[in-house]
Amino acid sequence: MRNKVTKAILPVAGLGTRFLPATKSIPKEIMSLVDRPLIQYAIDEAREAGIKEFIFVTSRGKGALEDYFDAAPILETSLRKQNKKEMLQALKRTTMESGEIAYIRQREPLGLGHAVWCARRLMRNNEPFAVILPDDVISADTPCLKQMIDAYQEIGGNMVATMEVPASEAGSYGLLDVRGEIGKLMSVKGMVEKPAPGQEPSNMAVIGRYILTPNILKNLGQKMIGSGGEIQLTDAIAHEIEVSDNVYGYRFDGRRFDCGSKAGFLKATVAFGLAREDLRDEFGAFLRDLVASGGAAE
Ligand code: UTP
Repeated sequence: MRNKVTKAILPVAGLGTRFLPATKSIPKEIMSLVDRPLIQYAIDEAREAGIKEFIFVTSRGKGALEDYFDAAPILETSLRKQNKKEMLQALKRTTMESGEIAYIRQREPLGLGHAVWCARRLMRNNEPFAVILPDDVISADTPCLKQMIDAYQEIGGNMVATMEVPASEAGSYGLLDVRGEIGKLMSVKGMVEKPAPGQEPSNMAVIGRYILTPNILKNLGQKMIGSGGEIQLTDAIAHEIEVSDNVYGYRFDGRRFDCGSKAGFLKATVAFGLAREDLRDEFGAFLRDLVASGGAAE
């Protein structure tokens, strides 16, 4: 029986420059799709996959994120007095038990790999852990991380979520060099972060869900500088392929929205808005009218 995956690292220390000026004072992860911040989607998915401990790697200016998971006694008392049960229920999702959540600081944004390494002291030997990037919102019947943890229970090793991307976009992702594929699992013989044009090993891109072994933290400790002058998680996983050859890609079922980009965030807002019963009719009619009239806000 393999160790259960019960811890997740959520690196949220990036500067979020693609959303400036909004992200000057609002953490990207607090920006909302309809009425749920990105971070809530990540936490809901993780909980459904059996994650019990959440480790956030944060930085200066992320206070709103910490407040979001705190108790809000004045708000709750007021809602209770007014008997607003649905709103109280919505707040329940934001509740974290004491000790369920930890915050670690990344002093400088030295890259995703460095952010994950910052959490090393909270991880135990031999204990696999998940990494979730809240920018990637994945809508799926079975949550993406749960699909991966189920597969991990069978096969072990290190696993990254992967999906095919158009060739024109491949260079902005980490890409897999695939040895072979059985069902949803790919055996991986190499990985490269944001390769130069013509150097792409495939167009199977790494998406922000990972199940990793503590060896990856050791590899990150070597602080290899990679693409963009940053310490890349992809490089530490690629190194593990050379050492122990136990890295798999998992082709998940579901639809991924890149909420780290403006276009992706807008697409997700429309898709999640239309998925809501309370909004579907009004919002759908508005979109149809808008498209028909070609009208845009001034
Ligand atoms: P991104 O590459 O999307 O960077 O990081 P970013 O800073 O969030 O956004 P842009 O590109 O400036 O608009 C992917 C994930 O890695 C985290 C980010 O918070 C995000 O969840 N990250 C990145 C860190 O935690 N630390 C870093 O040094 C870099």
